[in-house]
Amino acid sequence: MSQNDPCILVIFGASGDLTSRKLIPAMYEMHAMGQLHPSTAILGVSRTAKSDDQWRDELEPWVRQQAKGFDPAKWTEFARRVHYFAGDAVKPDCYPALEARLGELAQQKGTRGNLLFFMSVAESLYEPIVEQIDAAGLVVEGKRWCSIDPNAKSWQRIIVEKPFGHDAVSAASLNRTLGRAFEEESIYRIDHYLGKELVQSLLVLRFANSIFEPVWNWQYIDHVQITAAETVSVGQRTAFYDQTGAIRDMIQSHLFQVMAFVAMEPPSLYTPENVRAEKIKIIDSIAIPTADQVADYCALGQFAADGAEGAYHELGGVSPTSTTETYAALKFHFDNWRWAGTPFYIRSGKKLAAKRTEVVVQFKPPAANLFRKVPGFGGEAPNRLVIEIAPKERFNLRFEVKVPGFGLRGANVNMQLDYADHFKAEPVEAYGPLIVDAMRGDQTLFKHRIEVEGAWNAVMPFLDERSAAARAGIHANYACGSWGPASADELLARDGRAWRNEA
Ligand SMILES: NC(=O)c1ccc[n+]([C@@H]2O[C@H](COP(=O)([O-])OP(=O)(O)OC[C@H]3O[C@@H](n4cnc5c(N)ncnc54)[C@H](OP(=O)(O)O)[C@@H]3O)[C@@H](O)[C@H]2O)c1
Repeated sequence: MSQNDPCILVIFGASGDLTSRKLIPAMYEMHAMGQLHPSTAILGVSRTAKSDDQWRDELEPWVRQQAKGFDPAKWTEFARRVHYFAGDAVKPDCYPALEARLGELAQQKGTRGNLLFFMSVAESLYEPIVEQIDAAGLVVEGKRWCSIDPNAKSWQRIIVEKPFGHDAVSAASLNRTLGRAFEEESIYRIDHYLGKELVQSLLVLRFANSIFEPVWNWQYIDHVQITAAETVSVGQRTAFYDQTGAIRDMIQSHLFQVMAFVAMEPPSLYTPENVRAEKIKIIDSIAIPTADQVADYCALGQFAADGAEGAYHELGGVSPTSTTETYAALKFHFDNWRWAGTPFYIRSGKKLAAKRTEVVVQFKPPAANLFRKVPGFGGEAPNRLVIEIAPKERFNLRFEVKVPGFGLRGANVNMQLDYADHFKAEPVEAYGPLIVDAMRGDQTLFKHRIEVEGAWNAVMPFLDERSAAARAGIHANYACGSWGPASADELLARDGRAWRNEA
């Protein structure tokens, strides 16, 4: 049993897709693994009227389908934790009854007044709901409230899902609203990428070994590529996607977190405060491109038609003049000592050649090539570390060896660690361990206010009017099943580099 406190997990948006498909199956997995306090309960809140039992019946097929190793007995135990409250969470008159229900459950289960709110509603409802939680007096923890008996103190925390704002201004507004109700220590800005094994393993690889860190800098690393490629299209919610695009959906949120883990300085100790302080520093040191640089630092695209559907700008729900990117490749530099002159290229897109999320750390060639006169030997920089985050979880380290036999011939070989093969463990849904961290009060894998605003500031030149030239001619500029527009290859070719596009 883990050392987390009992609490009520209050999910706003209980009837929604995220709750059914991800959050409840993840909580079931955590229950089955003994990671939830025996008293912990879940209260789903949304407007549709239904009883506890009706909601449990709706959720069971999702858990069967989505969770690892469904066990009917465990489901029966878990279902006892699950309750439902019908109400419109933006309306003040919802709260007296909600508060009464929470009080009743706290009494029945013994959750000591601890509440973990989860915002699983449309982004436009985040601020109104937080204001109502605050106005209803549901938040009693925090420096402002100064409990007389600190041991008797209950806590209230909030998990906020992406999208965290639409741009730098809206993210700052959401942060201010959250900050009026909750202390920063109680705000958990979730990014399920940080729940992925290989993302967390990046920190262990870098800081629990002595061989990587001495070479993890501009002197030895030529460049870094971070890719999140999808083969799927934009789905049913075309109108929503048209307001979003690849930079907002993937790069500003998930891939910036991965980039921060690759680039940050070692924290002095693995504690939430130290890890977050280093992430804040690294995001703060991103060199924000000037308006003149934007077109040279990015490649944006929209997929063309294929047998299955029209080109992106021809889809229902998408404006025919839309310049929203379904593909983006961006180049970043850090203004700091470690990474001076080493670019980070980040790309993400829909309908690409393969589904893959990975980090490629390309090392420079050896300082002197003593084989330069050996015919047919080498020529490229062999050392490359590939961290595959999904769908496979693997580390690959490439290096040069001699081909056996007469004469001297070199060959690139790969040393690989496959997580599934080696550890014989299947990954659990990333939301589960993150929500349990929030129950424990561990913010290591959650984003700080300054990080989120810093990430928005860094991508804004690629989103606002400064990106107009890069968006000209975007319609159908890449074929489905390709690796993106030609401009993405040119982005790296201008620097004498190429993407790793291996199948
Ligand atoms: N789905 C995903 O995989 C995913 C992934 C990452 C982030 N997100 C984010 O997570 C959030 C939820 O996404 P979703 O896909 O689950 O959305 P969704 O399917 O639209 O679900 C949201 C639910 O909120 C409820 N709701 C709406 N207004 C409400 C109100 N005033 N008070 C209480 N409940 C209300 C609705 O149920 P009722 O009609 O019964 O009220 C609705 O089913 C969004 O911000 C989304 O961008 C989703």
